[in-house]
Amino acid sequence: MRNFGTRGPVNAQENYIVNRTEETADFSNRVKEGRYIVLFAPRQSGKTTFFQCALDTLATATTEIAEAVVEPTYFPIRLNFEEYEDFAPSAFYASFYREIRKEIEAVFRKRGSPLAETLSQFLEKARITDHVEMREFFEHLAGFLDNQKVVLVIDEFDGIPRAAVRGFLHSLRHIYLPGKPRCPHSIGIIGVKSITQLSYDQSISPFNIQDEFHLSNFTLAHVQELLVQYTDEIGQAFAPEVIENLHKQTAGQPFLVNRFAQILTEELNIPKTEPVTMVHFTEAHARLLRERNTNIDHLTTNIRKNRHFERILMEIDV
Ligand SMILES: Nc1ncnc2c1ncn2[C@@H]1O[C@H](COP(=O)(O)OP(=O)(O)OP(=O)(O)O)[C@@H](O)[C@H]1O
Ligand SMILES: [Mg+2]
Repeated sequence: MRNFGTRGPVNAQENYIVNRTEETADFSNRVKEGRYIVLFAPRQSGKTTFFQCALDTLATATTEIAEAVVEPTYFPIRLNFEEYEDFAPSAFYASFYREIRKEIEAVFRKRGSPLAETLSQFLEKARITDHVEMREFFEHLAGFLDNQKVVLVIDEFDGIPRAAVRGFLHSLRHIYLPGKPRCPHSIGIIGVKSITQLSYDQSISPFNIQDEFHLSNFTLAHVQELLVQYTDEIGQAFAPEVIENLHKQTAGQPFLVNRFAQILTEELNIPKTEPVTMVHFTEAHARLLRERNTNIDHLTTNIRKNRHFERILMEIDV
């Protein structure tokens, strides 16, 4: 049985999920065109879930080469910089390399095809200790992947060590500017802070090449799409006003929509044989507001401790 997920990214095997079909198609098209995509959005807005689903869709995209031969075209490499904030650049690049290698091996494993001996040897010998070696690594890697296009997506980009940002962004520009073919073919950077906040250096800003992606909150149709999955599985309906009000009161914010639905379906002990009505909605709403107050209390305490936090919060646009 699936449920409404509220702890990190959700997936269609365990959770009810909004497909975001149009945004996924838009993202895939930008990847195919080889864009340098940046997606900066507040916490808990569905960034990780979104790009993971989009890459899964893309990884199954295939090109018909001859009538019966079908080859995968895109080679996704997913990284996460969350842990690196205090790393020295050399330790950061060493881990960066190990993670890339793991990802490459995982892609082959998932496809059920063995790693070519030449690629295996290359990965065994390769080292990355700085941004220039990173660029060279990708140049060499392209030679082992035939016609497949590498798509590099970095989640929690804000975690990149301060001392490494400049070099890293310079190398991405260096890979990107000469044009295609290039490796990676497309780059996605996902984070909470924008690159200007991270680097303070406009000369390496990717703004003249980057392609900003906007991830919207859920529409009413999205909320319906989510709740109907529960109703279909469990047989418990939501009154139409409940769905409309849930969308309105949460402004379609993905986490809040799920948290609201979770309270309604798991915590209020409404018999599954009865529909969810506005009476239940009001009770769940009061509960959610109490929880939110606790979160907001944490934020105001932090602001009092450190005024710098306030400026960042204002820019995060909660
Ligand atoms: N496609 C979706 N369908 C249903 N719920 C979703 C979807 N995307 C996000 N959510 C809801 O939002 C929550 C946060 O999702 P996710 O971890 O993907 O966001 P995030 O922006 O990456 O968060 P963070 O900034 O904390 O890393 C999930 O736990 C879930 O409640
Ligand atoms: Mg995330």
